[in-house]
Amino acid sequence: MDYIFVSHMESDEYGGIRIFLERYPDAKVICSRLASRELPGLGVECDCVAADGDTVIEEGDISLKTITYPCEVHLQDGIIAYEQNSGILYSSDLMQSPGDGRDTVEECGYLPRAESISPVRIPNEKGLEDTKRKLASISPRFVAAGHGFCFVNADIM
Ligand SMILES: [Fe+2]
Ligand SMILES: [Fe+2]
Repeated sequence: MDYIFVSHMESDEYGGIRIFLERYPDAKVICSRLASRELPGLGVECDCVAADGDTVIEEGDISLKTITYPCEVHLQDGIIAYEQNSGILYSSDLMQSPGDGRDTVEECGYLPRAESISPVRIPNEKGLEDTKRKLASISPRFVAAGHGFCFVNADIM
């Protein structure tokens, strides 16, 4: 494993990082600049590739566009990641659907899903609007959701 992606500093997003780093000590951790400061504070020693705002990380064979969004728990800088070569969007908490998504991939339109993100997820009007605008600027082939069901983008099938 070359990279570990940490969307934001919440236990279900980074809680297992020590286990991964034990097995893959040379893995680089792609995270926000905020997370790159918080991880050492929690005693996690790792090599961070910190995304500074919305940026593209070119490392080896990845071209990872990071998109900032106001995330739990304090609506601070979280990131989702769009790997532009594969067309996979790692959407963390943003495009989750309830249920046990193991072994099942759905098909659905990406733009309607992006548009349906509610203030429950981002209770900040401008933050929600900005996030939707950023999401509308990409067209992923596949969305790897952090919870529930991953989906193939039916808009471009
Ligand atoms: Fe979260
Ligand atoms: Fe989560």
